[in-house]
Amino acid sequence: MKWLLVVASILAIVISKRGADFGPDWANNFSVQDLQCLKSTGIEFLIIRGWQKYGAMDNTTINAHANANKVGFDWVDTYLFPCRTMNATDQVNQLVANLTQAKAQFGKIWLDVEINPWPGCGWDTFSFESNCEFLKELVQAVRNANQTVGIYSSHYEWTSLFGTDTACSHFTDVPLWYAHFDSNKTFDDYYRLPFGGWTKPMIKQYIDLTRNTVCGFTIDQDYIPDVTESVQ
Ligand SMILES: *[C@@H]1O[C@H](CO)[C@@H](O)[C@H](O)[C@H]1NC(C)=O
Ligand SMILES: *[C@@H]1O[C@H](CO)[C@@H](O)[C@H](O)[C@H]1NC(C)=O
Ligand SMILES: *[C@@H]1O[C@H](CO)[C@@H](O)[C@H](O)[C@H]1NC(C)=O
Ligand SMILES: *[C@@H]1O[C@H](CO)[C@@H](O)[C@H](O)[C@H]1NC(C)=O
Ligand SMILES: *[C@@H]1O[C@H](CO)[C@@H](O)[C@H](O)[C@H]1NC(C)=O
Ligand SMILES: *[C@@H]1O[C@H](CO)[C@@H](O)[C@H](O)[C@H]1NC(C)=O
Repeated sequence: MKWLLVVASILAIVISKRGADFGPDWANNFSVQDLQCLKSTGIEFLIIRGWQKYGAMDNTTINAHANANKVGFDWVDTYLFPCRTMNATDQVNQLVANLTQAKAQFGKIWLDVEINPWPGCGWDTFSFESNCEFLKELVQAVRNANQTVGIYSSHYEWTSLFGTDTACSHFTDVPLWYAHFDSNKTFDDYYRLPFGGWTKPMIKQYIDLTRNTVCGFTIDQDYIPDVTESVQ
């Protein structure tokens, strides 16, 4: 398996795109200069947090989106970290309403499917089946808002929230952005340990922000191998 993929990875290196996403718990209010610096390091796309894990808008995202557009990132997505005890549809609609009101230009809305450590917002007090229903409602709400949806998760997070790595395999038509912090720009690790029914991820978060500083900012780094998939 590993060797069959060698040709694909060589090709992937040639056409891969580098990206970054932000989500430390302090403010993400990036200026034009901040984002110009990130762009100068070769980062080509951004995924900026729009909705906080305690179930409210991340107000810095409006400014960061506007600045990212000014700097000329042609791919800027947002992500929503849902509070599990709040209504799924309402959280999506409020994020979309805030972004729309601010005339923010963004691509996909990524749903952050991971353990939520915020008191009262965790997934762990619900059944695996109920967690799956919650995710279905989030996905449907993004679609009902006429936005493009993606799912962010990892093998560990998926198993923790839904019980097994094959549980809740209802979203194979939704692009997958997965996390595995092995500093390795390949999907080989995914194919060895897949989850959620996806046969192919779209993006890998391969460097964790707790170990990474670029331009003085702690950021996660992401990788996408197939340039054709960046068309939104
Ligand atoms: C923006 O999000 C907040 C929650 O942080 C919500 O109370 C507010 O209604 C939203 N704005 C709009 C225009 O929906
Ligand atoms: C963020 O914006 C929402 C509405 O857009 C507002 O209700 C809320 O007070 C703001 N929060 C902060 C911390 O500025
Ligand atoms: C972000 O920074 C801009 C420019 O410095 C400022 O006008 C804005 O109020 C800040 N937003 C937040 C939510 O702190
Ligand atoms: C969440 O609220 C929407 C209305 O905004 C409602 O249709 C939906 O049933 C609610 N979800 C749950 C699980 O109660
Ligand atoms: C989504 O698009 C459909 C079809 O164009 C339209 O009827 C509907 O009102 C739109 N919904 C929202 C929330 O914009
Ligand atoms: C990175 O990926 C290559 C190709 O699959 C593999 O040979 C190598 O062991 C990986 N390195 C790490 C640190 O996982």
